[in-house]
Amino acid sequence: MKIDGYPIISKQEVVSLIKDGDTVAFSGFTAAGAAKAVPAMLAEHARKEHARGGSFRIRVITGASSGDYIDNDLAEADAISWRAPYQGGKTLRDQINRQEVEYVDMHLSHVAQTVEAGFFNRVDVAVVEATQITPDGRVYLSASIGASPTWLASADKVIIELNHCHSPRLSELADIVIMPPPPRRNPINVSSPLAKIGWPYAHVDPKKVVGIVENDEPDQVEAFSQEDDTSKKIADHVIEFLLKEKLAGRIPPQFFPLQAGVGNTANAVLAGLGRHPDIPPFYMYSEVFQDSMMDLIDNGKLLGASATSLTIVPEKLRQIGENMDFYSGKIVLRPQEISNHPGIIRRLGVVAMNTALEMDIYGNVNSSHVLGTHVMNGVGGSGEFARNSHLSIFMTPSIAKGGKISSVVPMVPHVDNNEHSVQILVTEQGLADLRGLGPLERADKIINTCAHPSYRPYLTEYLAKGSCGHICHDLTRCFELHRNFKEYGAMLPEI
Ligand code: COA
Repeated sequence: MKIDGYPIISKQEVVSLIKDGDTVAFSGFTAAGAAKAVPAMLAEHARKEHARGGSFRIRVITGASSGDYIDNDLAEADAISWRAPYQGGKTLRDQINRQEVEYVDMHLSHVAQTVEAGFFNRVDVAVVEATQITPDGRVYLSASIGASPTWLASADKVIIELNHCHSPRLSELADIVIMPPPPRRNPINVSSPLAKIGWPYAHVDPKKVVGIVENDEPDQVEAFSQEDDTSKKIADHVIEFLLKEKLAGRIPPQFFPLQAGVGNTANAVLAGLGRHPDIPPFYMYSEVFQDSMMDLIDNGKLLGASATSLTIVPEKLRQIGENMDFYSGKIVLRPQEISNHPGIIRRLGVVAMNTALEMDIYGNVNSSHVLGTHVMNGVGGSGEFARNSHLSIFMTPSIAKGGKISSVVPMVPHVDNNEHSVQILVTEQGLADLRGLGPLERADKIINTCAHPSYRPYLTEYLAKGSCGHICHDLTRCFELHRNFKEYGAMLPEI
């Protein structure tokens, strides 16, 4: 059977097209728009191959993290040998941390050009979820754009997962461009969050399409947990700060576009901003369109949002499809190269709000590696937003694991965003505005505003006893808290 001239292929045909050792690029930015049927077929195939002593492990690229089908199920089948550029599954995370899977953790706006330049080898097969493909090769994508346009252009072979559960009208949100290779790049003409400069579809050479797999499964997006006391306090500090900035004339009356990172804290801050009567209606220039943003659009607080994925629960995605006349003027979905583009972020004056695991007393931030060794998810898009935003905010609760961990430490054992890109730090304890402060002023502010009171004496003493040049550190003790945690299960066992 054929659809628009392309053959529908069976599970048997799919697994014969993807070989052990291939580099496979799957659609999906988070679970939104992620390939689902083909990864499930490959997991089953890998299990069978391994059971009869064969080998089947592939190199996997996606836009960012992916649904359970890749980062958990395919990983559980021991079918991933190498992964880029971000992940979010417990199984894969554990394999990476056991050195069983090679993981390239990288800035997400770099992914497309890294693939185009051939730094990741050739892409053997692209598997891209779409709502429609036409005989002349127009591919209408579903709930995310991510790097799928690049997969379609670069891969040797293409499999389309035609997903009938998504509204075909989702493509009305898409604005797709592929940038030519450097040095032939023109300025990107996005001068407002909702500006459109491209096409509602991606393009593929029809000769490369080896088949279509039909599917009708929704995205596996889960709802965030309810805001708790800590995230509400963090949100209150951020809101108070933004209002003061507006009053001082450093934020214009119409506000700057906002970006919010992933995680429960970022979600709570957005919800808090939405509720506050003195925060004017605003735009977002962000990476992921998440649940709380939908509520803000519905109540008029969010005037419009640019993103690369609709990472929202299936009911909300359906609501968008069914009310497209309302949403199509308010949401733009772009390739991640554009949603996260440093030049546009700087041009628009984005206020970036991302989440840290820990921060040090000078403002260096670790968002990805616990104790400097074990990856949690990855740097994601935090680097491109933090480095290029008008205001760069990082948030985290002041303690983790019931107080056994302090999120403020003398020196972070892994740096995702350094002190030069970080301006504002926030915990439930308070907000440290680091703009214009020298290192020791920063340290004093961070310790006395952001650190949990039970860790302040230790941090103050560390600073006082450090060996000083421009910055004070004690290289024999800078990781003492982390070493304590490894040895005794608590950073300060006596607390
Ligand atoms: N050391 C060790 N573990 C820590 C810790 C620290 N300093 N701080 C937090 N944790 C643990 C928590 O206890 C929790 O553990 P659990 O899963 O066993 O309960 C876990 O880390 C996650 O913490 P949580 O508070 O639930 O985090 P979150 O949902 O707000 O996510 C990040 C926080 C940093 C993991 C997440 O935002 C992330 O991956 N960021 C990097 C990518 C990014 O910023 N992307 C957006 C850019 S557009």
